[in-house]
Amino acid sequence: MDTALEGRRDTDTGTERPLVVYFSSVSGNTHKFVQKLEADSVRLPLRTGEDAPVMERPFVLCAPTYGRPRSGGAVPPQVMKFLRVPRNRELMLGVMGAGNTNFGDLYCIAADKIAVKCEVPVLYKFELMGTSEDVARVNEGLKALWTRNSRHPA
Ligand SMILES: Cc1cc2nc3c(=O)[nH]c(=O)nc-3n(C[C@H](O)[C@H](O)[C@H](O)COP(=O)(O)O)c2cc1C
Repeated sequence: MDTALEGRRDTDTGTERPLVVYFSSVSGNTHKFVQKLEADSVRLPLRTGEDAPVMERPFVLCAPTYGRPRSGGAVPPQVMKFLRVPRNRELMLGVMGAGNTNFGDLYCIAADKIAVKCEVPVLYKFELMGTSEDVARVNEGLKALWTRNSRHPA
């Protein structure tokens, strides 16, 4: 099993490090953003034929929007597959959206759809690979969420 799933402990604080599960296509924007976070991470497989990971501890999902005008879909099928696993839905604390404001009203719509369907909050939205300010704000938010969650586990 991926070591990222095993719940590494932060030696300074004694609390578990935040965990981000994310999908990123070959363009890799979301991957670049997540790599800059102070968090463990698990990347969802690119191929839908591969098994989706089954999580063992709470995590935040980070998903880009890929609008498909004909099918009306926006959540990548790899993310849908991951969310079809009941345990994954149970452990999800919230969702972050990646997108591009050029898409107007459809900006990060996948995160909005996931939030409604899975009854979790949208924690943050960012464009493409995010800015250094996005990274700082998300790091702060994840740290606060994990501190809260370790005091009041779900
Ligand atoms: C075909 C296509 C459709 C997209 N549709 C949307 C959209 O509806 N809303 C949005 O906010 N971004 C949209 N985007 C932008 C992507 O979400 C954005 O480029 C994101 O950073 C891609 O992440 P990735 O490189 O990690 O896969 C679309 C991009 C492509 C290529």
